[in-house]
Amino acid sequence: MSNGDALTFDIEKNSKPATASERETLLQNPGFGRIFTDHMVTIRYSQDRGWHGAKIEARKALALDPATVVLHYAQEIFEGMKAYHLPDGGAALFRPSANAQRFHNSAERLAMPPLPERLFVESVRELVKIDREWIPTAEGASLYLRPFMIGSESALGTRPATDYLFCVIASPVASYFKGGASAVTLWVSENYTRAAPGGTGAAKCGGNYAASLSALAEGQREGCDQVVFLDAVEKRWIEELGGMNIFFVFDDGSLQTPPLTGTILPGITRDSLIKLGRDMGLTVREEPYSIEQWQADAQSGRLREAFACGTAAVVTPIGKVKGRKHNFTIGDGNAGATTLRLKAALTDIQFGRAPDKNEWLDRLF
Ligand code: PLP
Ligand code: COI
Repeated sequence: MSNGDALTFDIEKNSKPATASERETLLQNPGFGRIFTDHMVTIRYSQDRGWHGAKIEARKALALDPATVVLHYAQEIFEGMKAYHLPDGGAALFRPSANAQRFHNSAERLAMPPLPERLFVESVRELVKIDREWIPTAEGASLYLRPFMIGSESALGTRPATDYLFCVIASPVASYFKGGASAVTLWVSENYTRAAPGGTGAAKCGGNYAASLSALAEGQREGCDQVVFLDAVEKRWIEELGGMNIFFVFDDGSLQTPPLTGTILPGITRDSLIKLGRDMGLTVREEPYSIEQWQADAQSGRLREAFACGTAAVVTPIGKVKGRKHNFTIGDGNAGATTLRLKAALTDIQFGRAPDKNEWLDRLF
């Protein structure tokens, strides 16, 4: 049985790739996750053969039996990462081994076979190399990579699947928020929680996002861009947004972010910003913060800034917070100075404009 260590990729190039002018038109206004490159990676797993059949091929629809496990019991995990265009014409990934490790942890939580981390990183590297023409060069744009894995066995018994499909697709992206959103408005979810102790909050699995959608729809009806979720037990501790972690900036210059207690996703952007903040000499606390305290501090001026962060959202200022019992503005409702400084520090490294002291970039070419 193959543990995947010796696997190499069969490459079958797309015989009808987009033409240079089609690609150029698409890249002018990519939005987020709407357009896709010419190729994809697939690797299969079966109980008797282990990992096998690693392929790079033309991106195409997947053929799934209607009884496929993922369609019924949501045995699915994914990752989100980006390839960045560098000033010398090269390209790099940002901390891909951190995504590989998190994918491993998510697989274990969903009772799936962990893909060897080397194979995860190689898959992403190979896809970016073959689709390198799709890496956007516009300011702030990048190639978003979406590795994912599904239970692909046909079976309706509730147990872990015996077969799996790992796949990587790529999508050129600009800002996650429409129009680049200078500051977003959050909806405090009081009717719905996203994750509970012992659940899957710390895993990157599709089910967590499905569970967040009613809250998002409720927030959008109230004119908000994103939802901030509270803890499931006391319903007062701020956890994270549907697809982003959260930071608070205080009048003494310190930063605070909720701790990793098992119910929130351990974001790689979160981890990087903690390090960058500390490198700047700022105090960064990983401590619980309640919604009542947030409102009181925003109103007293003790809380100066707040921002959301993640691969897709990068660093997005939070301007306003609304809910059934809440309605407050952060600072003057616009991006704050510390938020912008941290965003610049992070993106300058990602786009190769500043020295990469932590060796976070993985150069592809
Ligand atoms: N929290 C959730 C629920 C997410 O979906 C994401 C995005 O991946 C994050 C946090 C931020 O994680 P990262 O910085 O690794 O992209
Ligand atoms: C990411 O930032 O990569 C995510 O998966 C979040 C999602 C909302 C796009």
